[in-house]
Amino acid sequence: MLTVENLHKSYQTGKISYEVLKGVSLTVGKGEFVAVMGPSGSGKTTLLNCISCYIPVSSGSIRLGRTDLASLDEDALAEIRNRKLGFVFQDFLLLDGLTVRQNILLPSIIGGLVSDATEHRADQLCEVFGISGIRDKYPAEISGGEKQRTAVARALINHPLLILADEPTGNLDSKSTRAVIHSFEQAKNALEATIFMVTHDSYAASFCDRVVILQDGVVWRTLEKGTVGREKFQDQLLDAIREMGRE
Ligand SMILES: Nc1ncnc2c1ncn2[C@@H]1O[C@H](COP(=O)(O)OP(=O)(O)OP(=O)(O)O)[C@@H](O)[C@H]1O
Ligand SMILES: [Mg+2]
Repeated sequence: MLTVENLHKSYQTGKISYEVLKGVSLTVGKGEFVAVMGPSGSGKTTLLNCISCYIPVSSGSIRLGRTDLASLDEDALAEIRNRKLGFVFQDFLLLDGLTVRQNILLPSIIGGLVSDATEHRADQLCEVFGISGIRDKYPAEISGGEKQRTAVARALINHPLLILADEPTGNLDSKSTRAVIHSFEQAKNALEATIFMVTHDSYAASFCDRVVILQDGVVWRTLEKGTVGREKFQDQLLDAIREMGRE
């Protein structure tokens, strides 16, 4: 589904080139829920932005299904962003002047894809996420959790191959965090969505199938949840992070 191979990314500041990703390799299988953790500055957002086609990579490859992103021009990348990827932002970025339902339809409107089928899908997504009752309300009139569910529904409107989320639970208390994660789990279970989430929160990450820990621009360790329960997995994540701190 998603394959990242030996990815290098440097930022140029004046004459100085600063290497942030130093050979990252990872894969995300269809229907998997994967988190990326790591210290501040380890390159998590940079990795996500490379996969999102927002910034060019220095070397290495990113493949989405059979498509190698490096081989595409700007128009083709825009097409991938619109049709193959769904985004959930930290502050959800709902448009105040649009209703919940219109916000959910926004990626289809932008892509010129609105049809009876997408309108029907918007209503289906409202059902799945329990927001049918508020679909004609505006963002100012709904709760934080409802905004978040709207944002996840919007990310799913175009049947994306992959949902990308950067710190979607960043500013939230544990109840709202639980709600965000629950809607990702619903997306995964009911809609076979594949989710790639950056987080610094071991609680949020403990719901994932797999957690990739970055340090200094490389994958330091990957932990699989397997059959251990969520709480045990969170303990394992915390142990790993402590161990990384000691090294
Ligand atoms: N556009 C840019 N130009 C130059 N340097 C950048 C740019 N964006 C990020 N960096 C640098 O690259 C490094 C990695 O940044 P990145 O945002 O990927 O880290 P992160 O792991 O997401 O951190 P955080 O947990 O704080 O969000 C940092 O040292 C940052 O200062
Ligand atoms: Mg970041």
